[in-house]
Amino acid sequence: MRKPEAIALERVRTGYVHGMSDVVDVLLGQHEEARALFVRVLGATGQDKIELFAMLVEKLQAHERAEQEVVHPVLAEITAESEDRLDDRVAEDILDEERAADQQIAQLIAIGPGDSTFDRHLADFQIAVLAHAAHEEEQEFPLLRSRVEVGRLQAMGARVLRSQTEAWSS
Ligand SMILES: [Fe+2]
Ligand SMILES: [Fe+2]
Repeated sequence: MRKPEAIALERVRTGYVHGMSDVVDVLLGQHEEARALFVRVLGATGQDKIELFAMLVEKLQAHERAEQEVVHPVLAEITAESEDRLDDRVAEDILDEERAADQQIAQLIAIGPGDSTFDRHLADFQIAVLAHAAHEEEQEFPLLRSRVEVGRLQAMGARVLRSQTEAWSS
């Protein structure tokens, strides 16, 4: 059993303290919401499906835009300083996945939730988005937490939230 002080210290280091959530907490929360939203869109029909799909697109686009503006540039800073070629690959792969997601979103919008093939395409997109989120959670976020100081991670979290108050407040 770990001592409460040790757990508290780790929380301070990682930003998991009430009122001090850092950018990783914010993004993890949004990944969770996106996972749940995919399930809701796939289970919905008619007008509900149209509205839930529109919400999913808006949230995903706001999420990826904030990552590209606030988060990935910091990852690029870290990898530029690193001797490790694997770190470079993380940044490149994540950006490639986001470009592919943009194309898949455009394709899904063109197909439309009323089409008989929509769910199949949405399920493929769900797999890609979940793999992308897992990639960030396993590779990018640990790099941020280990190389960027807590105060900066918290300021980045606030910037992400400010940049997307509309998309993620509903
Ligand atoms: Fe992303
Ligand atoms: Fe993400």
